[in-house]
Amino acid sequence: MQRLTLRTPDDWHLHFRDGDMLSETVPATARCFARAIVMPNLVPPVTNAQEALAYKSRIEAARPAGSQFQPLMTLYLTNETTVEDIRKAKSAGVTACKLYPAGATTNSDAAVKGITSLYPVFAEMAEQGMPLLIHGEVTESHIDIFDREKVFIDTHLIPIVNAFPQLKVVFEHITTADAAQFVTDASQNVAATITPQHLLLNRNDLLVGGVRPHNYCLPVLKRNTHQQALREAVATGSAKFFLGTDSAPHPRHKKENACGCAGCYSAWSAIELYAEVFEQLDALDKFEGFASEHGADFYELPRNEGTINLIREQWRVPDTVTLPDGTAMVPFFAGHTLNWKLEKSLVE
Ligand code: DOR
Ligand code: ZN
Repeated sequence: MQRLTLRTPDDWHLHFRDGDMLSETVPATARCFARAIVMPNLVPPVTNAQEALAYKSRIEAARPAGSQFQPLMTLYLTNETTVEDIRKAKSAGVTACKLYPAGATTNSDAAVKGITSLYPVFAEMAEQGMPLLIHGEVTESHIDIFDREKVFIDTHLIPIVNAFPQLKVVFEHITTADAAQFVTDASQNVAATITPQHLLLNRNDLLVGGVRPHNYCLPVLKRNTHQQALREAVATGSAKFFLGTDSAPHPRHKKENACGCAGCYSAWSAIELYAEVFEQLDALDKFEGFASEHGADFYELPRNEGTINLIREQWRVPDTVTLPDGTAMVPFFAGHTLNWKLEKSLVE
């Protein structure tokens, strides 16, 4: 096959950041995605409707001329979030709310300490038809970092899903066979996003032959059997799994650091990387569902009308991307040659 045509895809999980960074991140995503769920972990986080709408305007202002790209906004749940916050957010058009256990990842210090104290908020979200997006890792220091997703399922996710069967839950960026199985067995109200890095890599790619800071993200890459389980999950074509890049830009000096931060900036190659995965799996017939249909259906939003084309053409992911102020970033998969290329950007 030389050309793939698919309904215009959406990215159901990414980080745009704010300020000058938007002039880099928004065009990168708008080149092939029509919509994206924008994560709220700014400093300080986006915790109410007013802040979400202001952030949305800043993102819209950073779109290239003529771009129809639509940011879908989220609130960051804290122990101070109220039922009233949820009602206001819903009526302001906020799409979903994100649950980060405190300390789980980049900028999550403001996050939730006792998850059950948020149950009234979850009840209101179920009532309002607002999906709960979960970073599913426990953060207790005695739990091994490779076990944190599995322990989260057992201690928090199963109780949440049982208590709120009507609540739509997206288990974000799943990394383990346990998570894939949990989602497969759960009700239709539970789905998951999967990143390119967790489909393409395992923890050997992080640690063998030297530490690879640009492959470090959270949840951390797991052993190859887990990677395999994620690949099998997407190859089934199950509507419970959909595209969410978790594209998360960080300056080069903060990644290549004695305490390097977590996140892979994949926006410039994301759709091409996923195409590569589905081709490796001999499952290109399942690619469009994953990239362009399952997410919209789960969120009860219309599927996009247009299409994009990917052509079979080799290209090299650049070594760096430079921000207007001169700050360098290393994109995910920098220096790798990919076999599929977006034929024409949506924003040219
Ligand atoms: O690797 C990650 N980076 N995981 C997250 O959950 C957050 C993200 C970020 O914001 O940089
Ligand atoms: Zn994320």
